[in-house]
Amino acid sequence: MAGTPHEIIEKNTGLLVIGIVIAISFATLVEIVPLIYDQKGPEEGGVNAPLPAMEPWTALEFEGRDIYIREGCHVCHTQMVRPLRAEVERYGPYSRAAESTWDHPFLWGSKRTGPDLARVGGRYSEDWQKQHLINPRSLVPESVMPGFPWLAKNEVNGSNIQTKMRLFRDRFGVPYTEEDIDGAPDAVLGATELDALVAYLQQLGTAMEGQR
Ligand code: HEC
Repeated sequence: MAGTPHEIIEKNTGLLVIGIVIAISFATLVEIVPLIYDQKGPEEGGVNAPLPAMEPWTALEFEGRDIYIREGCHVCHTQMVRPLRAEVERYGPYSRAAESTWDHPFLWGSKRTGPDLARVGGRYSEDWQKQHLINPRSLVPESVMPGFPWLAKNEVNGSNIQTKMRLFRDRFGVPYTEEDIDGAPDAVLGATELDALVAYLQQLGTAMEGQR
C-alpha cells in the first residue's frame, strides 16, 4: 500500500537524496542571488559596495593575524556578523563582502564558543585586550577562554614579513607599496607577539566606521 508522499520519500534513499539536494539548492539560491544583484552603496547598507576606508594591515597587524591563526583563535571565534537582527543588535552592522577583500584565508569561521570578533576593534582598550589575553578570568570571571601568557614573552619573528607582504601584493592584489615593504622589518622589531595580536584585534571592523 502506498503511503503519504512523505512516507514514500522517507523510505526511498534515492528520492530522499534528490529531495535534500533540491531543498538545499533552493535555500542557497535564495541567500546568494539577491546579493549578486545588490547595487546599493555602502551608506544604504549595500553588501557589495567597496569600502573607501579599507587599509591593508600594517606589518605589525599582519604578524598579529598570523598569530591569531597559529593560536587557533578562529576555532572559537567567528569574524562574520550575519544579517540577522539579534546579531546586529549584539555586535554591530552585519559584515560586508568588501571587508574580506584581502583576507586569505578568510577567518569567518562557523563555530562560536566565544563572541564574534568582526567588530571588536576599539571596543576595549589595548590594556584590556592584553590583560584579557594573558588571563581572561582576571577580567571576565566566568570566561572559558584559555590564557595565552607566552604571547607577552615572545618577540615577533619578522624574518618573513617582507616575503609575506610581497606575496599578498602580487597574488591577492593587496596595495602594499615598496615603502611599506621596506619599512616592515623595522616596524615589527622588538614588538611582542601580544603587541602584534592586539594591533590586529584593534583594527577589526574599523573599515566600516562612518558607514554604520
Ligand atoms: C576555547 C575557546 C576560545 C579560544 C581558543 C579563544 N577564545 Fe576568545 N573568548 C572565548 C570566550 C568563551 C569568550 C567570552 C568570555 C570572555 O570575554 O573571556 C572570549 C572572549 C574574547 C574576546 C572579547 C570579545 C568581546 O566582544 O567581549 C576577545 C577579544 C577574544 N576572546 C580574543 C581571542 C583571541 C585573540 C584568541 C586567540 C589567541 C582567543 N580569543 C581564543 C573563547 C575562546
